[in-house]
Order: sequence, then C-alpha cells, then structure tokens
Amino acid sequence: MRAVILGGGPGGLYFAISLKLRDPSHDVVVVERNRPNNTFGWGVVLSEDTLGNLDANDSVSAAAIRSAFVYWDDVAVHYCGALARSGGHGFSGIGRQRLLNILQERARSLGVELRFETEAKDLHEYCDFDLIVGADGVNSKVRAAHADVFKPDIDVRACKYTWLGTKQKFDRAFTFIFEKTEHGWLWAHAYQFDADNATFIVECSEQTWRNVGFDTMSSEEAIEACEKIFAPYLNGNTLMSNATHLHGSAWLNFSRVLCERWSAGNVVLLGDSAATAHFSVGSGTKLAMESAIALANYLHSEPTMAKAFARYEDERRLEVLRLQNSARNSTEWFEDVERYLNLDPVQFNYSLLTRSQRISHENLRQRDPEWLAGAEKWFEAKATGKSSAVARPPMFVPLRVRGVELKNRVVVSPMAQYRAVDGAPTDWHFVHYAERAKGGAGLVFTEMTCVSAQGRISPGCTGMYDADHESAWKRIVDFVHAETDAKMAIQLGHSGAKGSTQLGWEVADAPLPSGNWEVVAPSPVPWSADNQTPRQMSRADMDKVRHDFVHAAEMADRAGFDWLELHYAHGYLMSAFITPLTNKRTDEYGGSIENRMRFPLEVFRAVRAVWPNDKPISVRISANDWVGADGVMPQDAVAISRMLVEAGVDLIDVSAGQTSTRAKPVYGRMFQTPFSDRIRNESGVATLAVGNIYEPDHVNSILMAGRADLVCLARPHLADPYWTLHAAADQRYGEVAWPKPYWPGRDQLVRIKSRNETLTGKV
Ligand SMILES: Cc1cc2nc3c(=O)[nH]c(=O)nc-3n(C[C@H](O)[C@H](O)[C@H](O)COP(=O)(O)OP(=O)(O)OC[C@H]3O[C@@H](n4cnc5c(N)ncnc54)[C@H](O)[C@@H]3O)c2cc1C
Ligand SMILES: Cc1cc2nc3c(=O)[nH]c(=O)nc-3n(C[C@H](O)[C@H](O)[C@H](O)COP(=O)(O)O)c2cc1C
Repeated sequence: MRAVILGGGPGGLYFAISLKLRDPSHDVVVVERNRPNNTFGWGVVLSEDTLGNLDANDSVSAAAIRSAFVYWDDVAVHYCGALARSGGHGFSGIGRQRLLNILQERARSLGVELRFETEAKDLHEYCDFDLIVGADGVNSKVRAAHADVFKPDIDVRACKYTWLGTKQKFDRAFTFIFEKTEHGWLWAHAYQFDADNATFIVECSEQTWRNVGFDTMSSEEAIEACEKIFAPYLNGNTLMSNATHLHGSAWLNFSRVLCERWSAGNVVLLGDSAATAHFSVGSGTKLAMESAIALANYLHSEPTMAKAFARYEDERRLEVLRLQNSARNSTEWFEDVERYLNLDPVQFNYSLLTRSQRISHENLRQRDPEWLAGAEKWFEAKATGKSSAVARPPMFVPLRVRGVELKNRVVVSPMAQYRAVDGAPTDWHFVHYAERAKGGAGLVFTEMTCVSAQGRISPGCTGMYDADHESAWKRIVDFVHAETDAKMAIQLGHSGAKGSTQLGWEVADAPLPSGNWEVVAPSPVPWSADNQTPRQMSRADMDKVRHDFVHAAEMADRAGFDWLELHYAHGYLMSAFITPLTNKRTDEYGGSIENRMRFPLEVFRAVRAVWPNDKPISVRISANDWVGADGVMPQDAVAISRMLVEAGVDLIDVSAGQTSTRAKPVYGRMFQTPFSDRIRNESGVATLAVGNIYEPDHVNSILMAGRADLVCLARPHLADPYWTLHAAADQRYGEVAWPKPYWPGRDQLVRIKSRNETLTGKV
C-alpha cells in the first residue's frame, strides 16, 4: 500500500511507524510543513498507562521516550498566598520537540520517507496514494476539504492561552499558579519536561486579556507582561516562546473539535484533526498516538479499507468521547474559575483536583491519604467550629441551619408515593418514612404534600389541608423523633397545570380516565396536548393559594416537622410562574424575571411569617428548563436563587427540568450538580444537590469541593432505605447511630466487610 500522512506531529509520525511495523512493504510518506526541529509548544505529559500501550506497540520508540521522561508526583497550587501540595499523582513529561525527534528517527529507521518544509495544499496532489491520512492538527485542511462528509463541530472556548517555556525549575510538582492582578485573574499551568526546561502555559479570561492590553501587545511585550505578573514564581528566569515561526498571535482560544465521521473514501482523520481534548487534562498526544495504533491495527486486520475505518472509528470514538467529557468539565472549571476564587485554599485545591470528575474522593485518598485527611479535618472544623483529631468522611459532618442540627449531610429526597387516601397519609407512609429515618440519613423529606385537594398531582398524593392529614403526619413525625435522630422535612406544593393526573406507575402526566378536577395555572397553557387547559389564575385565586400554603405550613409546624421546603420546581404551580415557557401573563406576574418571581416570593414571605424562626425553609427550583434560551437557563437560576435568598430562604434545593415536554435533558452521573455548584458559588447561598448521585464517593466529593451543602438521594433510597448506614460501613465509619435492635446486624456487616477487605488485600 502507498500511504501519505499529511502532518508530522505525534499522531502522524506514530501512525507511520505503526503501519511500517505491521508491514514493512508499505510505502509510507509523511508530509510536514515545519523543519524537523521546529515545533510549537513545549512539554507534554503522558501517563504510565499510555506508555504501556506504546510499549506494546513499539518497544523501541517507547524505550527512547521513557528514557527522555522526567517524573514527578505532586500537584502544587499557589493561590491567595498559600501553597497547597498533594502527592501520588504520578506524572511524566517529555519535551514535544524531543518526542518528535525520537519518532522522526524511529520512522526514518523503518524506511518512512519524511518530507519536511512541505506544505500540503491540495488533496489532489496525493491522488496516486492508496491511503491519505489527515494528521494535520486542530486546523486541519484535510478535514476542511471533506467538511461535508466529516461534518466537524468546532467549539471555540472562552479563555485565552499562550504556550510558553521557562528555565525556572518546576521539577517537584505539576504547578498551578493563580495570580490576582488589578486587571483580573491569570493563571499558569507549569511542569518540568526535561532537566533544564519547563512548560509554562498562561491562561486568563478574554476580559482580563483585554484589560491587561494583551490584544494590542506584540509577542515580546506580552511575554514581558507575563514575566512581571508571575515574577514571584520565576526567580528571575525569563519566559520563552517558540511560536515565532508560526503566523498570527501567540495567544489562542482552545478549539474543541468533534467530527460526525472520521473517514471519506480513502481519506481518514487522526489525532487533533478528528477530535481534540483540552490541554488541562493533558491527553491530546495520548489520544493521537493511541488512535494511530488502532488505525494501523485495523488496516492490517480488516479485509477492506472501509471495514478498517469503521472499526477504527467504533473503537476510538468511545474513548475520545469519554476523554472529551472529562476535558469539557476541566475546561469549564477554568473558564468559571472566578466563581471559585473565594474558596478557602484547601477547598479550592480540592475543587481543582476533582474538576474533571475523573478523580474522586477515594481516588484522592489512594493518592495522598495524609493530604485528604487534612482536607477532611479542615471541612469538619469549618462546619462545626471545632477541630477534630480524627478525620471523618464529609458526608458525616453535621450541619446546623437556624435552630436545626442535622447529624449528617445525606438527605432522602422527596418522592411521591401515590398511596394517600383523600390526601391523608396511610400506614404505607408510616412504614416508608419510618424505614428511611431509621436508615441513617440526616434529613428525610416527605413527598410533595399538596396544600389543597385541587393542588394534588394525582388522587394518591398526600395533602396538608384537613385535620386528619395533620394528625396522620404527626404520628409519623412523632415516631421518627422518638426512635431516631433524623430530622423530618415536609415539602409543600401545588400541582398547577400538572394536576389531576394518573398515579406515578400509570401513564405519566396523563389525565385521569374519569373524575378529573379543574386545574389552575398562571396562564392557560396545558402541560401537553392530552392534558386539560388550566384556568388562568385571578388575583383571588392567588390569594387562595397563598392562604393554602400558609395554612399547610401552620399545620406542618403543629405536626412537628423540623424543616419546610416549598416545591417551586418541575413544572408545578410555582415553577409554572417562574418559567417563561408557561407564564405568558401580561400583568405584573408575567414578563420579566422579577415579575415572574413576584407571586412565588409573596407565597414564600407569607409562609416564612408563620413558620417558626428557628426552623429552616428551603426552596426546590428547576435550574434549567433544558430548552435553551427560551426557558430558564443555569445563569437565570442564579438570579432566581438570589431573589429567594434576599427574601430569607435558607437553602436552594437545586433540581432541573420537568417544566416542559420540549426539554432535552443531558443525563449523566451527578448531572444536575453543576447547577448547584454555580448557584452556591456565584450567589453564596447554601444548596442541596440532587440527581443521579448514588455512591458515597459522589456525596463526599460534592461536599468537599463545595458544590453543595447537603446531598439528596432519591432512587437509591427506594432501593435501600439503609443507604447511609451501609455507606458508613463501606467507609469503616463507626460513629453512626444504628437503631439499638439492629446492633447485631451492624456488627455482622462490619465483620463481613473487614473480612472481605482482608481477603482481597484491600486494607
Ligand atoms: C497548550 C497545550 C498544551 C498541551 N499539553 C499536552 C499534554 O501535556 N499532553 C498531551 O497529551 N497533549 C497535550 N496537548 C495536546 C497535543 O499537543 C495535541 O493533542 C497533539 O499534538 C495532537 O497531535 P497531532 O499529531 O494530531 O497534531 P499536531 O501535534 O498538531 O501535529 C500536526 C502537524 O501537522 C502539521 N501540519 C498542519 N497543517 C499542515 C499542512 N497543511 N501541511 C503540512 N503539515 C501540516 C503541523 O505543522 C504539525 O506538525 C497540548 C496542547 C496545547 C495547545
Ligand atoms: C418515585 C419518585 C417520586 C418523586 N417525587 C418527587 C416529589 O414529590 N417532589 C420532588 O421535588 N421530587 C420528586 N422526585 C424527584 C426526586 O426527588 C429527585 O429529584 C430525582 O429522582 C433525582 O434524584 P435521584 O437520581 O437520586 O433519583 C421523585 C422521584 C421519584 C423517583
């Protein structure tokens, strides 16, 4: 086969090597516009795993790469005058130039023809080759030539960066430096890549970049300005650029590249031309080189080029998407870093280390148990005002809100049971809530409990509007208080246009087959074409609803509830006022966000006035309608939360969606937690996070990174009422109160877990 590879970066060169290794009779040419010793960028980081893959593919070049590596273990973070250092991260770095030289030499020794200083302009020049590989990087011309087939999606990210080098030693740690200037924050990613040189990437927001005046400076002036800003860390050493042979500014915006397809006829994309991963996760070179192995493998194993391309794409796309996901989290963390710049250095460091969500609490424990124990102690001291000799998992650190002390941070999220009779909770509810309270969570929420018969979602929903509702709830709350140390919260709501529908396990959100009742809403907008059109609420209706909420709150207090939550999420009545998707009013309750919040705030204030001062109120909101700019977006949720907090709300319970049938939610592990993070850190309010959080590790990471103050788990508590007790046993945390009659069960569980650990060698 005659193959031409356009682009002699790590991807292109490594593919040439891999192809030749599989069949030396292939005629392989690499076309590179630069000279062999001319490249942009400084050092790159490769992991031990990647090196293992390279070793298996070509032990010769892997050995040369390994011998050129510098290793370091720590991550150091300079922030607000503090230096935080954690270990166990295990990096190895190599100069990009050195890597290319090793690959060039290896390719040449295998008989690859390297054509340097040759610009690939037109694919037609290469029509006599059987295979054309587009390994020409992020601005690929090959990709552009077949854009109609590859369908690239290029997302130019917000921050500005420049890739510099320095003789200053950063040989003990991968170092992040966050520096505040009069123009805004700038930060550097610095790491050693050979005995004498370190990479020094400077990054900042576009606004800061303009404020500093980088937009009008020459490269030399910009480097000088960076040297001044980072002088305390450079020890008199200069910053250096090797981008002088490149056209244009040395400042770039990172482009995230995705392509719908990676091949067109005999042309195939490889490395950055097909997909990029942000440099803050240091994986672009790894992706390019591992893709090179896969492509060479399949060209060798498959009977046709088309089949080889299909298998190559199948295998690599998954890995690329996984990495791009982590890279996106990491990119966004740096883009939004100003949000975190009020955090204590310990929490800031933790948030930085876990930014991509690839590293969790327990990963950090494995890497550096001492550092993590210190961070856990810091968390506890901050929450309780007392220092502790022994670290405990963040999920077991108490939280005080007003006069209520929660023993831990785990919350049983509100979950409708559809087992009420005329609004009254039954024995089902007694057993259900009693079990969850015995299961160890600090706070147990009731399901949405409706403030009137009309405000019920279904005929099976609980209410708080009749005397027998109050007494039935009181029986449950009394039991929980007498037999456990969990606190009980009631969630009060009104269904609005989503009322008069079937039970949860029947047809979701569909009207009843018979016996429907009238529903009301801010505007006559039905939930769907199948639902009844609600009656638009008059001011008198609003007075009645406000009164019902107040009345229900008074009953809830008498029933003994410790905590009250107003349900302003998921498309029910209050949420329907907040979102412009269902609030079409033209009076003072519709239009601007202030107008749409007017009635929900009025109800909250009226409830707060009767709810005892020492008991908290949280409000659950939908922080994203998942319909784009037509609905509530996460930035609007920050504004909504600020209004609620100004009115006196103690915590925001951050949910999302269920406000429109048009919603296109993006699900995933902890998928709503970023909204909680944003609200908490941009508006300084305490939050509850919820949504696909199911492991103790998730809970600890969320709390420790300051993404929420409490963590709600819904479905995990349906599967396991004792989720918290089991989580404690999993983490060898013995300070949780099991109900006395269950102590023998606790002891056996701990014994079994310890024995399993000994057997598996995990201690
Ligand atoms: C600031 C920064 C830091 C990074 N740090 C790391 C890291 O630590 N670890 C890591 O794994 N990755 C890192 N990366 C990513 C890494 O540099 C890329 O993902 C990797 O280089 C991709 O390899 P490639 O061969 O696909 O493309 P490239 O390395 O971009 O190579 C493409 C080659 O094609 C040549 N070329 C382009 N157009 C033409 C043309 N028309 N004719 C001839 N030749 C052409 C170019 O000159 C270049 O040599 C970083 C990236 C940046 C921007
Ligand atoms: C059966 C069921 C009923 C629910 N009922 C309510 C409810 O009454 N009020 C509410 O705010 N959320 C309700 N939710 C949403 C949950 O509180 C939670 O936000 C959602 O399930 C995501 O959390 P999870 O991934 O831990 O399940 C319900 C969820 C389930 C599964």
